[in-house]
Amino acid sequence: MVELEETFKELEKTQHEFWNVSRQTAVFMSMLIKISDVKSALEIGTSNGYSTLWIAEALTHTGGHLTTIEFWEKRQKIAVGNLTKHGLIEKVTPITGSALQILPNLDINPDFVFIDANKAEYIKYFEILKDKMKKGAILLADNVLSHKEKVKPFVDNISADPDFQCQILDLPAGMLMALKLV
Ligand SMILES: C[S@@+](CC[C@H](N)C(=O)[O-])C[C@H]1O[C@@H](n2cnc3c(N)ncnc32)[C@H](O)[C@@H]1O
Repeated sequence: MVELEETFKELEKTQHEFWNVSRQTAVFMSMLIKISDVKSALEIGTSNGYSTLWIAEALTHTGGHLTTIEFWEKRQKIAVGNLTKHGLIEKVTPITGSALQILPNLDINPDFVFIDANKAEYIKYFEILKDKMKKGAILLADNVLSHKEKVKPFVDNISADPDFQCQILDLPAGMLMALKLV
């Protein structure tokens, strides 16, 4: 079987084409999932599955499961291929479609949410998800510095929400981390 590290290195060659997170961001997420013993993870924006592979691998340490959403069918297929190649597809439910249509009907209460899709829609994802998230759940949102203007409504909204404690982390592209307090 191809080593996961080999696939990570291969995918990093096309990082800009598929808009993948940096390795620093991926390693941070992987550690956070293990520390927090995440059981139910949700990713919005699968692309070719680079971050998905990192999250799924981390969930093998916690016994958790990941639901990941991507509307670009071709990309979702590549992601499923990568997960299958590494025996990680059992940890993941890939959903193909628009997050704004899927999220309202998604019957999960995540303890880990990773938002990395349409930047202008972050605010809408948050509005749909905030009541579904468990107490103690972690929300990560990428690109809050690289796409500052587009994500501003989301960052302002979650930062002013007393139910969430927030911090912007100095990771490439800027990552907002929020903890659900209630
Ligand atoms: C930045 S990329 C995700 C990269 C991935 N998280 C990684 O690091 O490997 C964003 C992806 O979100 C998808 N996307 C954008 N808006 C979406 C939406 N409303 N619903 C579902 N997928 C969406 C795009 O097709 C794109 O593949």
